[in-house]
Amino acid sequence: MREDRSLELQGDALRNLIDSAARRIVEYIASLPAQPSADNRDPAGLAQSLRETLPESGADAEELLDLLFETVIPRGFNTAGPGYLAYIPGGGLPHSAVADLVADATNRYVGVFAAAPGLAQIETNVIRWFCEIVGYPETAGGILTTGGSLSNFSAIVTARRDRLPDDFRLGTLYVSDQTHHSIQKAASLAGFPEANVREIPSDARFRIRPDLLSAKVAEDRAAGFSPFFVVGNAGTTNTGAVDDLEALADIAKAEGLWLHADAAYGGFFAITGRGRARLAGIERSDSVVLDPHKSLFLPYGNGSLLVRDPETLKKAHALSADYLPRMQEDSDLSDFTLLSPELSRDWRGLRVWLPIKMHGIGVFRTNLDEKLDLAEWAARELARIPGVEILAEPQLSTLAFRLTRDGLSGAETDALNAAWMEKTNGRGRVYLTSTRLAGRFSIRICVLSFRTHLERMEACLEDLRASITEV
Ligand SMILES: Cc1ncc(COP(=O)(O)O)c(C=O)c1O
Repeated sequence: MREDRSLELQGDALRNLIDSAARRIVEYIASLPAQPSADNRDPAGLAQSLRETLPESGADAEELLDLLFETVIPRGFNTAGPGYLAYIPGGGLPHSAVADLVADATNRYVGVFAAAPGLAQIETNVIRWFCEIVGYPETAGGILTTGGSLSNFSAIVTARRDRLPDDFRLGTLYVSDQTHHSIQKAASLAGFPEANVREIPSDARFRIRPDLLSAKVAEDRAAGFSPFFVVGNAGTTNTGAVDDLEALADIAKAEGLWLHADAAYGGFFAITGRGRARLAGIERSDSVVLDPHKSLFLPYGNGSLLVRDPETLKKAHALSADYLPRMQEDSDLSDFTLLSPELSRDWRGLRVWLPIKMHGIGVFRTNLDEKLDLAEWAARELARIPGVEILAEPQLSTLAFRLTRDGLSGAETDALNAAWMEKTNGRGRVYLTSTRLAGRFSIRICVLSFRTHLERMEACLEDLRASITEV
């Protein structure tokens, strides 16, 4: 029998590897403000240069880390940097990377309570904190997921199992024309015909029209469908719009619909006074998605789904098998596999627990309040630029706008704005992306990274102003 123990990295070999990675990480993070906001040169060429066959023998770790930090990581969008105002940023708290190091190196199994009771409890604490933030009752529960899309998927499956018969194909779901596409994807994955997702128009502030929702539900019922699920947007991706969640909760109650709040982006603003007021009614939902990798600033791969009644999660996910350990009878002790689609997985709770325990939630509140201020500041500054039209005033920390010039057609105005955004991004200090609002090309700013402060927003406005002269 041939024995090879070289995979057991320990002592100095392990310490050196961690130190080498740590040194590069510390340098990388210190250099973030000076890094370009994106490096989009020849992505296909980079991919081509990295293709390789399965190596038979090993390479030097220093060289591998150099390859990552010098060649691989710097390319593409700089999603960790302060100038990343595109899509939905977050920054990526390095505390969570350290938590991952601890979790992965100790490799305890958290899928069932019996295997790691302390770890499971720490993760349960995190879920309880999230329930508290939303305003859910003490009896509420939930799971940590890898992101909003999977949370939306589990929410739809849970509501389907709770509200519809085994043959559920007449079940209809209601979203606004601003709802994130992951809901449509989740409904399809959950087995619903595409057309069963009904898109309700939104108003001038991009909020769902509750009157049109009620009318569509009545029409569907009359036609023999089974309306069962409505999404309330608590911060849309396009403009950060927050639906009237109180009105939706009233309709859901009257119609017997499951109210699902997609608060993947906006939910953690509930820890601020202004956010709490704007999200009023979220606590009346049946389920809610919050993404710590958005408004809690964690690295990618962190989502959550909370439900008012954890029995519904269990009904959708709990299965037993002879080879598993005994599950808990006490509802305070969580066997995560009974509540989620996964059995084996990483210890996600630690990534959230460590930064919140180290700083307390107050620091997150201050950071989110600052983002609300910065978005308002940016909207005011943009409105002063001649020709700029604010298409969406910030309801949270996102806004949308465009430049107009006399005599230009719709298509020419779209092209003008695309060029303006490209020139601004080309200056390398910020990275902005676009969307279409009422069919028009619109530039968005989403201020959400914990690394974005006033000086970077001033740079953003400077670059937007300077680029106008070039288009
Ligand atoms: C409102 C909203 N819901 C859901 C999602 C999907 O989340 P994830 O990208 O974590 O899968 C996003 C992503 O941006 C979002 O903004």
